[in-house]
Amino acid sequence: MKNLELDGMGDPVLVRTNQRLLEVLVDQGARLQMACGGKGLCATCHVHVTAGAERLSPVTPRERRSLEMLVDRRPSSRLACQAKVLESGVRVALPTGRYLTASADLEGLVGRRAEEPVLHPIDGRVLIATGKIITRSRIRELVEVDYDVAEMRTRSLTLRR
Ligand code: FES
Repeated sequence: MKNLELDGMGDPVLVRTNQRLLEVLVDQGARLQMACGGKGLCATCHVHVTAGAERLSPVTPRERRSLEMLVDRRPSSRLACQAKVLESGVRVALPTGRYLTASADLEGLVGRRAEEPVLHPIDGRVLIATGKIITRSRIRELVEVDYDVAEMRTRSLTLRR
C-alpha cells in the first residue's frame, strides 16, 4: 500500500500499488465525469500533480496526445485514468471548474450565475466564466459539446484501455 494526498479532501489516503488515480478520486467522492470511460481521450479526469509526479506511472503516448489538447495544460497536468500510483508521496489537486458533458446538464441552472467556470470536456476551454448568467441561448450554443462527446464516445469504443 502507498499513501497519497488529495488537496482539499482531508487526510492522506492509502491506495494499492499500481492503483489508478481515477479510482482513488472516485472512492474519495471527487466529482469526476469520466466522459470517455477512462480511455484517456477527454479532460474530465484532468488533475494537477502538485508533488511526487515521478512516483506515478509515466505519461503514455495516448495521454500525451490528450493532454496536448488541453487549453489549461500545465507541467503538473495528468489524466487520472492513465496515471497509476507507484510510490508514496504523491499529492493531487483537482482543477477549478466543472467539466460539461451534456448541454442539457445546465438546464436547471438557467437564470443563475455560474459559481465556477464551466469547461469543455475535451479541451478544457472555458465555456461559461464564473459569474456569467446561464441563459437558454447559451445552452443552445453549447450543443457542440454534445456532438464532441458523442464523437469521443464512439472513438473510445474502438480503443482498448
Ligand atoms: S476519463 Fe476521459 S481521459 Fe480519463
